[in-house]
Amino acid sequence: MNGISLFYIAFAYVAVAIFIIGFLARVWKYAKTPSPLNITLTPGPTSTTGVVYRMVQEVGFFKSLFYSNRIIWLGGYIMHLGLALVLIKHFRFFFTPAPASLAWITTFEAYAGFIFLAPLLFLFALRLITDRTYYISLITDYGILALLMLIAATGILTKYYVRTDIIDVKAFVMGIVSFSPAAMPMDFIFILHFTLVMLLLIYFPFSKLMHAGGIFFSPTRNQADDPREVRHVTPWAVKG
Ligand code: HEM
Repeated sequence: MNGISLFYIAFAYVAVAIFIIGFLARVWKYAKTPSPLNITLTPGPTSTTGVVYRMVQEVGFFKSLFYSNRIIWLGGYIMHLGLALVLIKHFRFFFTPAPASLAWITTFEAYAGFIFLAPLLFLFALRLITDRTYYISLITDYGILALLMLIAATGILTKYYVRTDIIDVKAFVMGIVSFSPAAMPMDFIFILHFTLVMLLLIYFPFSKLMHAGGIFFSPTRNQADDPREVRHVTPWAVKG
């Protein structure tokens, strides 16, 4: 095995470790942060079942965003659908044999890469052309969109224009997953795609992409609107 393969195998393990530990550490921090006051966004559900239903609507349909900004909702929702499709189609690299429940999705062309890339371009442009959004946009907002666009672009190039050997890719990925490393396919665009994905994994826990885990800990969404039914007393307000 050559030095490039060895480097990328080590890089992959480091990146995945940073991602998993970083992600869990952030989630742990969210879970430990006190939220003693009832600050539900009203009108809100009054029961736990209602809170679950509200979270399903938020996570599955981005309901609050839908009611606050339809244009950003459209871009964001299609982008996340495209991402989900892309990731489901990638599952075949990680399983041997690919489970039938996942294999069927790779049997047809869904243009997932384009469904992911087009709204990313749209969201990037929106930040530049809408005054209010331009004003509050940070360099990291553009940076994450740019990173995702580069991942999508190199993926699309690998799939349609500068083909790599999928069998070699699968052997390489399975080698990492099963701790019996195999050589990296020596195709420049694929190597670029893989490098950018590893950088994304490393950056993820430190970035706003943590909204993927943080949404579940958002007190305005995960609390029941029940201050008329239940008396809420902060632990430190209780007289000893
Ligand atoms: C270890 C992780 C990954 C590996 C080994 C990998 C590898 C590949 C390969 C080999 C292709 C070409 C597919 C084909 O010819 O059918 C591809 C396409 C693509 N990849 Fe990845 N990828 C990884 C992670 C990701 C991630 C995390 C994203 C998104 C954030 C992504 C986005 C894409 C996109 C958009 C395409 C275009 C093809 C499509 O429409 O499905 N990849 N990737």
